[in-house]
Amino acid sequence: MRKTVLLLLLFSIALVLAGCAGFSASRENDYDDSLVVVGFSQVGSESDWRLANTASMVSALSEANGYRLLFDNARQKQENQYLAIRNFIQQDVNYIVLAPISETGWESVFREAKEAGIPVIVVDRQVNVEDESLYQSWVGSDFYQEGRMAVTWMEEQFSEEDTPLRILHLQGTEGATAQLMRSRALEEAVSRHEAWTIEAALKGEFTEAKGYEVVRDFLKTGTAFDVLYSENDNMTFGAMRALDEAGISYGREGKVKIISFDAVRKALQFCLEGKINLCVECNPLHGPRVDRLIKSCEAGETVPKSSYVEETFFTCETISQQVIDSREY
Ligand code: AHR
Repeated sequence: MRKTVLLLLLFSIALVLAGCAGFSASRENDYDDSLVVVGFSQVGSESDWRLANTASMVSALSEANGYRLLFDNARQKQENQYLAIRNFIQQDVNYIVLAPISETGWESVFREAKEAGIPVIVVDRQVNVEDESLYQSWVGSDFYQEGRMAVTWMEEQFSEEDTPLRILHLQGTEGATAQLMRSRALEEAVSRHEAWTIEAALKGEFTEAKGYEVVRDFLKTGTAFDVLYSENDNMTFGAMRALDEAGISYGREGKVKIISFDAVRKALQFCLEGKINLCVECNPLHGPRVDRLIKSCEAGETVPKSSYVEETFFTCETISQQVIDSREY
């Protein structure tokens, strides 16, 4: 009888461990034992999207919801993320959640976390590690699909095969999945259309200040373009300021058509006013998704290796105030 009980006990422990790929999810810490301790390394506060993402994470991983959250803002520097992760390991957190700045360079710190028995959950952008067992799960956007939505719209708008289309490409932080995939979709489309050209690819680092600066300097060269393909809303806001200063019209009635990614409230408002032609949605509300993943791990369930979020797009012809008011960010 005692042998059967022991076997059952061993079997249940094995089941719990299997759910989290060999990571132990219950650890000792100095705090209220009933709380799950999560160290979250955030990219920075470079955009409205990022602020909405931080708010979503903080509200989902709250004490009322059973968590003690250690939050670190990496200020757009990968070295700061390494420091934060090592710090979380030292503090013996239960889970590490990482919103990675770029895709590469994670092997060593992930291995350290694995050796310490701490599961890593990746959110938003992806990581490129050879050994996928180094992290538990990823949840975020299909950035390539976002780019495909934008180029499909361009193909519909500029359907004349031989009409030249000059594109100004404003890129986000180099090596981030959001940059790599949105850029890939555009570059593939340009290679399919002989009359399409990228006049310049400018590095705007996903910030309004940098977006303004690089577009302002580019406009001084006098190079004309028909479309601004801007990889996030904040860079778009900066570019709009530079266009205003240079006296170049844009949007529905203007010379330059604007495509922007994220679809934060301010961008949608500009879309409604006809100043941005197309807003492609990038959903930042990952807090509840990460909460569900952790709760599943805690329950010993198997979690998916990757989960993509469904997204849509808005045009200045179809957007309405009602749509904007119904959105959370
Ligand atoms: O990774 C998501 C991207 O990062 C968003 O498009 C951008 O606004 C943010 O900074």
